[in-house]
Amino acid sequence: MATPVMLRFVGVVVLATLVITATGCKLSPSHYQSTCPKALAIVRDGVAKAIKNETRMGASLLRLHFHDCFVNGCDASILLDDTPSFVGEKTAAPNNNSVRGFEVIDNIKASLEKACPGVVSCADIIALAARDSVVYLGGPSWNVSLGRRDSTTASRSLANTSIPPPTSNLSALITSFSAQGLSVKNMVALSGSHTIGLSRCTSFRGRIYNDSNIDASFARKLRMKCPTSGNDNVLQRLDIQTPTLFDNFYYKNLLQKKGLLHSDQELFNGSSVGSLVKKYACDSSAFFQDFARAMIKMSKIRPPKGSNGQIRKNCRKVN
Ligand code: HEM
Ligand SMILES: *[C@@H]1O[C@H](CO)[C@@H](O)[C@H](O)[C@H]1NC(C)=O
Ligand SMILES: *[C@@H]1O[C@H](CO)[C@@H](O)[C@H](O)[C@H]1NC(C)=O
Ligand SMILES: *[C@@H]1O[C@H](CO)[C@@H](O)[C@H](O)[C@H]1NC(C)=O
Ligand SMILES: *[C@@H]1O[C@H](CO)[C@@H](O)[C@H](O)[C@H]1NC(C)=O
Ligand SMILES: *[C@@H]1O[C@H](CO)[C@@H](O)[C@H](O)[C@H]1NC(C)=O
Ligand SMILES: *[C@@H]1O[C@H](CO)[C@@H](O)[C@H](O)[C@H]1NC(C)=O
Ligand SMILES: *[C@@H]1O[C@H](CO)[C@@H](O)[C@H](O)[C@H]1NC(C)=O
Repeated sequence: MATPVMLRFVGVVVLATLVITATGCKLSPSHYQSTCPKALAIVRDGVAKAIKNETRMGASLLRLHFHDCFVNGCDASILLDDTPSFVGEKTAAPNNNSVRGFEVIDNIKASLEKACPGVVSCADIIALAARDSVVYLGGPSWNVSLGRRDSTTASRSLANTSIPPPTSNLSALITSFSAQGLSVKNMVALSGSHTIGLSRCTSFRGRIYNDSNIDASFARKLRMKCPTSGNDNVLQRLDIQTPTLFDNFYYKNLLQKKGLLHSDQELFNGSSVGSLVKKYACDSSAFFQDFARAMIKMSKIRPPKGSNGQIRKNCRKVN
């Protein structure tokens, strides 16, 4: 028979364990289970609503996570607005007029603040929204470890230099991902994100006018839409075939020299990395598995944990 004293003791131990998990230094999928049980459903609903309104938003939310994680870790630094006394990452070269989804994160954060004030970090919202977007568009699922905290700083110069530009060659791509602890295989799998979403002419003009490893009729059509000057912000599909489906057509396109970005086609241009591209083009479940693994790894890049950083109340500014 358990006595009331014993029960109380057990209760204290359980509570203590919960507190340790909640403030601990290891991310865990069950981080909000007791402190905000509806958190995952709230994010998922917010993402579904946003993608129903505009399909591209799924791609934009996935990219937001990438651009957050590559600059000082997955800490929601990308969400901080510029002010007269603060320079953030939104206007960094890879982000300005390009990264989107901020209003979607704001809406989800507002719902979470109503349900459980001050509990769910903006960095965790981005990580969950990226996963939920991929699932919504037909891609693989994975469990997102949670407990990231939000930064109180941002770095425009690091955003300029840490996020690889679309003019990158293969060795630059490998170096950039390796600096984040990501392997060549991780890099090739994560690049499969370009199976969804859109790119501006300015991001691939050099490729369609100057590259030799491009399908001729593909290049011709793109040159009509993106003249040598002007139309900088006109949008084209990263995956010409199924731009709103998370599938392996990105890799199939590369085999036909129909990668949109110079950096995309670098993955299939005679190097040994090409064998991975072939594998993912033929085996979508291998791609899904490696993609999910790589996303989990990317989402764990140096987030603030424990007592570092804070849980922002408004994702756009520090508390
Ligand atoms: C391998 C190096 C990478 C380079 C050089 C690169 C570059 C780019 C560029 C230039 C664009 C178009 C942006 C514009 O014109 O506004 C883009 C779009 C996109 N990127 Fe990447 N990217 C890379 C890796 C990744 C990774 C790792 C992810 C996600 C895990 C990702 C997800 C996306 C998505 C989903 C879009 C479409 C966004 C939208 O439609 O709003 N990219 N990328
Ligand atoms: C729906 O998407 C459009 C762009 O297609 C955007 O302007 C609008 O703000 C979005 N509305 C909501 C409620 O998200
Ligand atoms: C960002 O883009 C806007 C145009 O929308 C431009 O006025 C501004 O100068 C750009 N900022 C930077 C830092 O390049
Ligand atoms: C997520 O974790 C749960 C519980 O550990 C497990 O049953 C499930 O298969 C996992 N889901 C994925 C997609 O890995
Ligand atoms: C980052 O790039 C932007 C846009 O190209 C440029 O205006 C800015 O000076 C750069 N900032 C830093 C701190 O490197
Ligand atoms: C790749 O790009 C880097 C950085 O722009 C450059 O230093 C290097 O020479 C290039 N490598 C090759 C093989 O072209
Ligand atoms: C193509 O390459 C030439 C020669 O290097 C350069 O002058 C031109 O600006 C490039 N075109 C584009 C659209 O990048
Ligand atoms: C791709 O490979 C070809 C043949 O090895 C080479 O000439 C070319 O410079 C490489 N890159 C591009 C963008 O064409």
